[in-house]
Amino acid sequence: MSDFPEKLYACWHPVAYAHEVKETPYPSKLLNRNLVIWRTTDGKTHAMKDLCVHRGTALSLGRVVNDCIECPYHGWRYNSEGKCSLIPQQEKQNIPEKAKIDSYLCKERYGLIWVALKEPIYPLPEVPEIESSDKWKVVLTGPFSWNTDASRQVENFTDFGHFPWVHPDLLGDKNRLTVPDHTVTREGHILYYTIKRPEAANSQEFPIFGNKKSVGPERHSRYELHLPYTIVLRLNWGEEKEMVYFFVSQPESQNTCRGHCIIGRNYDFEQPDSTLQNFENVIFEQDKRIIESQRPQKVPFDLTEELHLNFDAVAINYRLGMKALGLDY
Ligand code: FES
Ligand SMILES: [Fe+2]
Repeated sequence: MSDFPEKLYACWHPVAYAHEVKETPYPSKLLNRNLVIWRTTDGKTHAMKDLCVHRGTALSLGRVVNDCIECPYHGWRYNSEGKCSLIPQQEKQNIPEKAKIDSYLCKERYGLIWVALKEPIYPLPEVPEIESSDKWKVVLTGPFSWNTDASRQVENFTDFGHFPWVHPDLLGDKNRLTVPDHTVTREGHILYYTIKRPEAANSQEFPIFGNKKSVGPERHSRYELHLPYTIVLRLNWGEEKEMVYFFVSQPESQNTCRGHCIIGRNYDFEQPDSTLQNFENVIFEQDKRIIESQRPQKVPFDLTEELHLNFDAVAINYRLGMKALGLDY
């Protein structure tokens, strides 16, 4: 493992939505590794290298039988620890020690499957609102697959200056372009900042926000940016309606990533999930064409390579934080 900094392997990353992994093995990609994700009958999820030791076939093309994953080429089976348990071509089961697949730490939480390729150094963020609370309704949006590095996708989610330009009338107001002052602090691997910023009034097509004003609404946002690629955004409009965004980008390779966005709201329980899902599809499409055009494809962690101004405080601190923790490359 060396094409990314060691520490990135030692972080939890999403590899699928939980509902994507059913009875059949599911192929995923993380930090240039092809993985197969699958479930045993107890519902537990497992992550392994997607490669049969016999002839290198993708195990994700196979099936799950008796809590083992079966290779589609010659039917070899591997258990949830990755150990080969059956070689059908042999009369006597003398299974060589080498008949083993690398397996990784894997768990399910927040409607996602998470994998750490090495012992993880940071825990997942705590977001009780989207975890079994009857005061909140949770909607899964995405996935958002982009041809760029995960750092660019995360940075875009945190960028204030682009709202009126890229998402006019949906997230930003073209008549209010200035970014209000905000201060970023870092504690360990988490950046904290709050901002009260101008936003667009709720649109007729997507009445998803809790703002009441038709002119000049402001959004109060509290951010936690968990390095490297996770954002917890809590927002409201000064009253009782609140919203939580849990956004996390999966670093598939140096130039592909997959965003997962889970949204909780303490209002509008009866609105169909498709309203929020369609809204986010529009927003992420608007961003995608811009972000995929950026060069270099990953965030340059050296500050001298770009031009940063005061209102880019988050981008600056993202670069500094990633560098300080050895998560940059
Ligand atoms: S390649 Fe997998 S069993 Fe032969
Ligand atoms: Fe955007």
